[in-house]
Amino acid sequence: MKKSLGNKTLLYPTPVCVIGTYDSSGKPNVMTAAWVGICCSSPPCIAVSLRKATYTYGNIMSRKAFSVCLPSENYARHADYFGMVSGKDVDKFAASGLTPLKSELVDAPLVKEFPIAIECRLHSFLEIGLHTEFIGEILDVKADESCLGADGLPEIEKVLPILFSPEGRRYNGVGRFIGRAFSLGRELRKDA
Ligand SMILES: Cc1cc2nc3c(=O)[nH]c(=O)nc-3n(C[C@H](O)[C@H](O)[C@H](O)COP(=O)(O)O)c2cc1C
Repeated sequence: MKKSLGNKTLLYPTPVCVIGTYDSSGKPNVMTAAWVGICCSSPPCIAVSLRKATYTYGNIMSRKAFSVCLPSENYARHADYFGMVSGKDVDKFAASGLTPLKSELVDAPLVKEFPIAIECRLHSFLEIGLHTEFIGEILDVKADESCLGADGLPEIEKVLPILFSPEGRRYNGVGRFIGRAFSLGRELRKDA
């Protein structure tokens, strides 16, 4: 028997991402966001939902660019901090000791210590309610070589992204490998 939990934002897991932007004076800022997901394959796009109250919101509106950086689990403390204070009040890079990297493609900083950085140009935005969904066109993905597998792609066991449980406010690490996509379901296909 399933129990109704109400109209809550319960989706498991959501990714812990860190959004990099520059403010009007050129100060780099980072904020944590979990309302993030790929939303188009061609052009490759990612959607990030932010409240107007964030410093990042105004930075994206004026710079028309942002980065989506993936911290690995050994930076969970930093990611949590980036989600608790505002760039309006604090220089989060200076306070955390992490390093802003200049992107050559977009007007937004990357976080050097995080293994993956997705460089985005603002494609469009949608006012939904409390959150505005920013759609970023992905111009490039920068990955530390140490997190790449034999096929040249990032391996989740090396990236070690942080998983976030909305409402329950919990962070988890990545679990075990269970199979390959577009393959596991083959035995159930009647048309093959
Ligand atoms: C795990 C986590 C996830 C968060 N996800 C979001 C989000 O998706 N959208 C949002 O607007 N705020 C989110 N926040 C809150 C912002 O990170 C927080 O308001 C931050 O201080 C904004 O920084 P800024 O003012 O420097 O832009 C999240 C915080 C945490 C800890």
